[in-house]
Amino acid sequence: MSNIRWMIRRDIPEVLDINTLNDEGNALSEEEFLSLLRERNVICMVVEDQDKIVGFMVYELCPIYLSLLLLQVHPAHKGEGIGAKMFDKLTTKISPTSRRKFIATQIRESNLDSLLWAKKRGFLAKSINKSAYSSPEDDGIFMIYDGSEEKGAKVVDFGGIEIEL
Ligand SMILES: CC(C)(COP(=O)(O)OP(=O)(O)OC[C@H]1O[C@@H](n2cnc3c(N)ncnc32)[C@H](O)[C@@H]1OP(=O)(O)O)[C@@H](O)C(=O)NCCC(=O)NCCS
Repeated sequence: MSNIRWMIRRDIPEVLDINTLNDEGNALSEEEFLSLLRERNVICMVVEDQDKIVGFMVYELCPIYLSLLLLQVHPAHKGEGIGAKMFDKLTTKISPTSRRKFIATQIRESNLDSLLWAKKRGFLAKSINKSAYSSPEDDGIFMIYDGSEEKGAKVVDFGGIEIEL
């Protein structure tokens, strides 16, 4: 039975291993990861199963939305519901009545599995961020999960990107 909790310092090597296994040439160095965590309002949670870290997510608390920066599952544990478990946890941090009502994320255009996974969880592709990634160059698909109650046309500012929902 897996358990989701805040990341602590001694989880970092296992978290970085998962990132290396998933991102190969583009994995974050320890220094890059630590500097990401030092950003204001950035939070990291891990999923632990029998004393092993099997997934992690990093997100930022922005004024009206959560920015999902990383959400990764150990390749040996994909398809076991661990990604869904982290996503479900994330959705508890937004609500129609709180000031944060949306989750925003960006996924590589070539990462079809993750795009389909995010679509299944209710994210909608809203905009293309041209050449957002390098090595190899790739566009980013900007995706939004709308947790607000008022459906219908509204324009929301996601850190300078205005999106019609
Ligand atoms: C994308 C990722 C986070 C999914 O996590 P996971 O733990 O393997 O996925 P889950 O087991 O939680 O899958 C949940 C559901 O999505 C479905 N799903 C998973 N992969 C899918 C795919 N490629 N296409 C369609 N549905 C998919 C599952 O069937 C499952 O459906 P259910 O809820 O009806 O049972 C994981 O594969 C990963 O770490 N990818 C690499 C990192 C990455 O690209 N992250 C970006 C995430 S935004």
